[in-house]
Amino acid sequence: MRDVALNKLRCGLIAGLAGATFAAGAANDAPANAQPSAVATASMVHTDVNAIYQANCASCHGPDRLGATGPVLLPLNLERLRRPAAIKTITEGRIATQMPGFGSILTAQEINALADLIYTPLAKTPTWGMDEIRASRIEYVKVGSLPNKPVFKADPLNLFVVVEIGDHHVTILDGDKFEAIARFPTRYALHGGPKFSPDGRYVYFASRDGWIAKYDIWNLKLVAEVRAGINTRNLAVSGDGRYAMVANYFPNTLVALDTRDLSPIRVIEAKDDDGKSSRVSAVYDAAPRKSFIAALKDIPEVWELSYDDKAPPVYAGPVHDYKMGEAIAVKGPFSPRRIKLGDYLDDFFFDPAYKHVIGSSRSGNGQVVNLDIGRKIADVDLPGLPHLGSGITWEYQGRPVMASPNLKAGVVTVIDMKSWQTIKQIPTLGPGFFMRSHEKTPFAWVDVFNDPKNNDVIQIIDKATLKIVRELKPSPGRIAAHTEFTRDGKYAVVSIWESDGELVVYDAKTLEVVKRIPMSKPSGKYNVYNKITHSEGTSH
Ligand code: HEC
Repeated sequence: MRDVALNKLRCGLIAGLAGATFAAGAANDAPANAQPSAVATASMVHTDVNAIYQANCASCHGPDRLGATGPVLLPLNLERLRRPAAIKTITEGRIATQMPGFGSILTAQEINALADLIYTPLAKTPTWGMDEIRASRIEYVKVGSLPNKPVFKADPLNLFVVVEIGDHHVTILDGDKFEAIARFPTRYALHGGPKFSPDGRYVYFASRDGWIAKYDIWNLKLVAEVRAGINTRNLAVSGDGRYAMVANYFPNTLVALDTRDLSPIRVIEAKDDDGKSSRVSAVYDAAPRKSFIAALKDIPEVWELSYDDKAPPVYAGPVHDYKMGEAIAVKGPFSPRRIKLGDYLDDFFFDPAYKHVIGSSRSGNGQVVNLDIGRKIADVDLPGLPHLGSGITWEYQGRPVMASPNLKAGVVTVIDMKSWQTIKQIPTLGPGFFMRSHEKTPFAWVDVFNDPKNNDVIQIIDKATLKIVRELKPSPGRIAAHTEFTRDGKYAVVSIWESDGELVVYDAKTLEVVKRIPMSKPSGKYNVYNKITHSEGTSH
């Protein structure tokens, strides 16, 4: 336990320091948020936590907690950070980052009060609309000014983009030699998978706090950034490469961007006919349909937003006969076509033709929605909490099947995509997270990420027998997750999900380790070729 007397002494001593920090911050930031009188007395005032925040934290986390050089400090954004971990971070800081420790500056009570504050929503809802998005955009490189060929020798289609969330970096890895070509810092906490332009030249990232970045892989340069939201789930890039669509949890919007320079085109509010607003869980590209498909968290609808220049207009409200001109067409690109469902649809998966989405619903059942007719056509048996975003497909006994890992149950579900019947529930060592395969390998790899006892294991399923044939322990006692294959399917790369983690490269046939590459919590790795060709063994 801390010595209270000593603490008081320190507290008084540091009050001056805190003031200094504040003064420095105030010199750079808008003085409108300054509360100098509060700072002067901050030494022993435990009640005015806002003043303590403004004095010590605002310079990096923003006066409204909306983030600056430091991340956003709002409850929604801190969902993955537990309170004790937040207190530890504030007290001790984070090694090798800008986040200083305040244990010798603030009392335990003050730190507790700050922890309470950051898990409290803002009194006034901040606006993040077209104007704010537009103003946030940073163009690092002029469109079209960089050479149209790679500046390195490696196969540009067999690169891996490795997201390292441990220290917020991305590594571009040569997928033949397994050597890094570049490593660069990213915004705080990249979310969802990165997305590629159709030719594989550009990669787009979304961060938890709403920053979208465009990176030119051939020139190894950051091109532009824009802040599309305050809490973002993921982004999708259109099959023709022209647009990016961003799914936000806060505000409740979808944001369409021009991929050339990330300038915003349209902000679409997610709400139903009665005006009930909803978070957007995820958005994906459905290239054959020339549209984006979005899942809404709080209203039982799935939305289709067309980017086809020749798309017919979308009609809002009930329509009896379009030809009669009874309804009013919604104008502009990306007008949402709403498909109303009987249940919420959280996470989902497309069939290879992009005719159906297979979604998990909140009541714990799966539903199949036919996108053409705009209605649910079947229920599927998906117990637990399937992670459909990580589902894969293959051909089993002449039929197309899909398989999904499960976040809550130790099972991989295999479903016939013609009859929508469950073919098999393959029992696993515990709940997992990611499942991957490749056209050229007989195996599907699944992790046991969500089981604390077995999360160092990767299980290998034979796609022909639906049986688990091997168990791998890439690094015993350390979390193993997220497999991805090389372009040719010859090697499988597994993440060791630790701050001092690594990528473990396996020969996909012999299942022997061929190389280990140190990485800082490599949350995911994405092979350019497998992504742009929509390999059946990986998520899209
Ligand atoms: C000099 C800049 C700076 C100051 C001052 C600062 N922070 Fe931070 N803070 C950061 C950075 C940068 C990070 C991200 C660290 C990382 O990469 O993990 C961070 C991370 C955090 C996190 C973890 C967020 C998450 O999502 O995991 C919390 C909580 C936090 N800071 C609270 C505070 C509080 C409370 C104060 C004031 C007492 C404060 N910080 C002052 C820069 C700062």
